[in-house]
Amino acid sequence: MRWPFPLVALCGALSVPVQALFETTYHSSSVVVQPFTILEKSPLYDPDNTNLFLVCPNGLEVAEPGAAIYKSNGELVWAESSFGNCYNFNYQTYDGQQYLTLWVGAGGAAVGSQMGFGTVLMMNSSYDVVMNVSAVNPEGTDLHEFNIVKPENKTVLVTAFHTIPMDLSSIGGPVDGWYSNDIIQEIDIATGAVLFNWTTFDHVALTESYNNISLTGQGFTEDNPFDAVHINSIDKDLEGNYLISARHTQTIYKIAANETILWRLGGKMSNFTALGKGTEFHFQHHVRWRMDETHISVFDDGGAFIATDVIIDEPVATGKYLKVDQEAMTVSLTKQFIPGPNRNYTLAEGSTEPYGDTVVVGYGYTPWTQAYSFDTEELLFSAVIGPDNASLWNDNGINNYRAFQTSTLEFTGHPKLPPNVSVTDGAIFVSWNGATHVASYTLLTGPSVWDVSKKVTKVPKSGFETKIKSAGSSEFIVVAALAANGTTLGKSAVYRTSNGTVASD
Ligand SMILES: *[C@@H]1O[C@H](CO)[C@@H](O)[C@H](O)[C@H]1NC(C)=O
Ligand SMILES: *[C@@H]1O[C@H](CO)[C@@H](O)[C@H](O)[C@H]1NC(C)=O
Ligand SMILES: *[C@@H]1O[C@H](CO)[C@@H](O)[C@H](O)[C@H]1NC(C)=O
Ligand SMILES: *[C@@H]1O[C@H](CO)[C@@H](O)[C@H](O)[C@H]1NC(C)=O
Ligand SMILES: *[C@@H]1O[C@H](CO)[C@@H](O)[C@H](O)[C@H]1NC(C)=O
Ligand SMILES: *[C@@H]1O[C@H](CO)[C@@H](O)[C@H](O)[C@H]1NC(C)=O
Ligand SMILES: *[C@@H]1O[C@H](CO)[C@@H](O)[C@H](O)[C@H]1NC(C)=O
Ligand SMILES: *[C@@H]1O[C@H](CO)[C@@H](O)[C@H](O)[C@H]1NC(C)=O
Ligand SMILES: *[C@@H]1O[C@H](CO)[C@@H](O)[C@H](O)[C@H]1NC(C)=O
Ligand SMILES: *[C@@H]1O[C@H](CO)[C@@H](O)[C@H](O)[C@H]1NC(C)=O
Ligand SMILES: *[C@@H]1O[C@H](CO)[C@@H](O)[C@H](O)[C@H]1NC(C)=O
Ligand SMILES: *[C@@H]1O[C@H](CO)[C@@H](O)[C@H](O)[C@H]1NC(C)=O
Repeated sequence: MRWPFPLVALCGALSVPVQALFETTYHSSSVVVQPFTILEKSPLYDPDNTNLFLVCPNGLEVAEPGAAIYKSNGELVWAESSFGNCYNFNYQTYDGQQYLTLWVGAGGAAVGSQMGFGTVLMMNSSYDVVMNVSAVNPEGTDLHEFNIVKPENKTVLVTAFHTIPMDLSSIGGPVDGWYSNDIIQEIDIATGAVLFNWTTFDHVALTESYNNISLTGQGFTEDNPFDAVHINSIDKDLEGNYLISARHTQTIYKIAANETILWRLGGKMSNFTALGKGTEFHFQHHVRWRMDETHISVFDDGGAFIATDVIIDEPVATGKYLKVDQEAMTVSLTKQFIPGPNRNYTLAEGSTEPYGDTVVVGYGYTPWTQAYSFDTEELLFSAVIGPDNASLWNDNGINNYRAFQTSTLEFTGHPKLPPNVSVTDGAIFVSWNGATHVASYTLLTGPSVWDVSKKVTKVPKSGFETKIKSAGSSEFIVVAALAANGTTLGKSAVYRTSNGTVASD
């Protein structure tokens, strides 16, 4: 067993990717991105490839971390690396509008740190950042959560952390030790007002932690504080109570608006009696109320590596639905989504999120994304970010914190920039980063910049980038992007075929 985030990384030694493998590049686009490799796809699963997967690949093998959207056939739809290190890419409703939300900042697994200091960006459907949300005092939002509270969709739950001095001698640490105080906040997005501010220092005893200070060596210096609790998700129920997942206490907490802990599920002080097998979870992530708040979904990381001397005999990580009876105080397993071999474990991170009649399970620190039938629990779809190469995954090669979805049925991306064209060796390559509804491209030519209107050919879109063979002999070209119904969605600039440069916008 070993600590997943080597201490050397905290000093910055591994903060630059040591390798830059497997990224895909294009002629007509500057995006450089990990492929989304489809391993299995049932004919029943998303036959029209309308599903869109939102991911933020990062890790030591990723030269250009950033956000990406893929279709379920593996086709890249959008990628953006100017944000750098990102986490928790999602599609959420705020105040009646839909937004792509993602955390950006410093920290996270890619640089070997457990928490992040950053901000959350909210983008509209033309991929413009229209809002930027942060935790308040301490400044800097942690990467783990950005959950817009339903049904009002006006406030958001975020994590933050703050290193404070603390006497750790009761658990074998220093008297003048350092503690990572996890803070959860509910923030009014419009005003930035903090509606709830709850900290682990005030409410969670050190003895609840499974983080063994003599194994991790944490808590001795301010830049390596003791990470006793490690909150990684927050949800809120209709009665106004909070539901918190804490990885290092292996506990799910229900917290009242007056800050009192109402109950604990899992860990050393669970208030629940298990009915039947499979209700346990370890180093869990992404805990949410489901099914009219009768169930909790959880990504059970299982026997993930962590610096505890407690042996966990659960090598396979799974997504679970647990039935939580808050009157009888019992818990039972309702659903378990079991992965195929070779894509069944993780060191950390992960998610379990329903989408339509499926449930999508992301493996976080190992970059698998799997979709299951909610009803039958049958595996329908499996993909990996990057190549299907197990030798890469054990040491933070490529990871993706959570796997969320939207689809072309609910999201229409219309980028501000027009389709982009490259003339390479006489062939024409076209791509339109972020356009979700292009079905074909039409090539137009003409004798002058002002007259480029002759339709030469129409080709179906054949991936993120489409190759059009013939340019004819004209000097000027334009490529138009068409929807399936024939509507022109956008047109490129006018390019010169002689040297591929833009002649006029
Ligand atoms: C547009 O294509 C050209 C090649 O013709 C490439 O150099 C440029 O980086 C592309 N622009 C973007 C924004 O991808
Ligand atoms: C809040 O968002 C959810 C999920 O997108 C949506 O179903 C619900 O209608 C929204 N509520 C309001 C008041 O807009
Ligand atoms: C997105 O926001 C930008 C900046 O405010 C705006 O120019 C653009 O029109 C918006 N896009 C859509 C689709 O509303
Ligand atoms: C977010 O907002 C802050 C404060 O206005 C600003 O300093 C920061 O540059 C913004 N970040 C991004 C990524 O837009
Ligand atoms: C939240 O709690 C922390 C720790 O007690 C405190 O430092 C911070 O000022 C509080 N923030 C707000 C906005 O109340
Ligand atoms: C921490 O690990 C050490 C070494 O395995 C063990 O001796 C000690 O009992 C553990 N402490 C706790 C609190 O579990
Ligand atoms: C806090 O709220 C809970 C649930 O609403 C209630 O049972 C409890 O008595 C309250 N505690 C305090 C100290 O007010
Ligand atoms: C939960 O268990 C703790 C002890 O571990 C106990 O103090 C508390 O009263 C219990 N709460 C409920 C709601 O059963
Ligand atoms: C999990 O995957 C490993 C290979 O990584 C394999 O040896 C093992 O049999 C798998 N376990 C199950 C239950 O599928
Ligand atoms: C798997 O990873 C190893 C080590 O990086 C590399 O040498 C090998 O080419 C990779 N194989 C594939 C199929 O990508
Ligand atoms: C054609 O398809 C586009 C993209 O799906 C859509 O925005 C537009 O409304 C459609 N036009 C008609 C006339 O159906
Ligand atoms: C491309 O060709 C045009 C017209 O001959 C010329 O004006 C322009 O300088 C050329 N650009 C490059 C980069 O070669």
